Amino acid sequence: MKGVILAGGLGTRLAPLTNVTNKHLLPVYDRPMIYYPVQALVDAGIRDILLVTGGGNAGDFLRLLGNGAAFGLQHINYTYQKGEGGIAAALRLAEHFADGEPIVVILGDNIFQASIRRFVQRFARHGRGAKILLKAVPDPERFGVATVRHGRVIAITEKPTRPASDLIVTGIYLYDAQVFEIINTLKPSGRGELEITDVNNAYIARGQMTYDRLPGWWTDCGTFESLLRASQLVARGHRRPARRAVRGERLCAAG
Ligand code: DAU
Repeated sequence: MKGVILAGGLGTRLAPLTNVTNKHLLPVYDRPMIYYPVQALVDAGIRDILLVTGGGNAGDFLRLLGNGAAFGLQHINYTYQKGEGGIAAALRLAEHFADGEPIVVILGDNIFQASIRRFVQRFARHGRGAKILLKAVPDPERFGVATVRHGRVIAITEKPTRPASDLIVTGIYLYDAQVFEIINTLKPSGRGELEITDVNNAYIARGQMTYDRLPGWWTDCGTFESLLRASQLVARGHRRPARRAVRGERLCAAG
């Protein structure tokens, strides 16, 4: 099982913070945002990691992370996404790296509390198709929203004006090698991007999508509010480790 972190895009929603740096280099409490997905993969037992980045500050990732010694890694792979063609376009750049193996993909602005080790290990053992991790949030209209019936995800709608549920698709995805074949069939969405939600709906159409609920707190950092919340959640975890985690989640759900 290999790991891919998607840290491309231009982060324009966070301007002026992102005028002279990449969103994923901004601080989340006491470290740069990109540290969290790298640590999540390492904690899940993944040693083979590709970082996809873009924009004008790609070299700063290399200066910051190098070969990943701070995480006990011997090597990190890097590739560059030109422009902002969407999450699936960024993932397409990982095809050569994946080389037919299953992958776990994390969006570089997703910060979460729980270890994903057991999901990764289970998928690595007999993973075919895809698995997504869902989370109930107070503002589902900002995300891909899942419709679940009889224990199966039957549809995902990207940023719906009237969400069918409060269950959103987090930016943690497990895929088999079909993912690249699917990406090659995609057409750009209304906003001109290759959407990861279209990839996931293609797996649903093939009857090959499963899901789990992500325990613990979770947030993205795509807006000023969520970026601040990410720092607060991490800081709270530092102050009251482990036993207070459940309370932390409730605070997150309350927004
Ligand atoms: O955070 C979870 C959500 O992420 C999902 O629920 C949505 O279904 C999914 O579309 C995505 O929504 P966002 O609108 O929040 O995605 P955003 O454009 O902010 O991109 C999230 C990360 O993906 C970003 O931090 C870096 C990476 N990315 C994004 C784009 C557009 C790339 O690597 N390349 C890109 O071209």
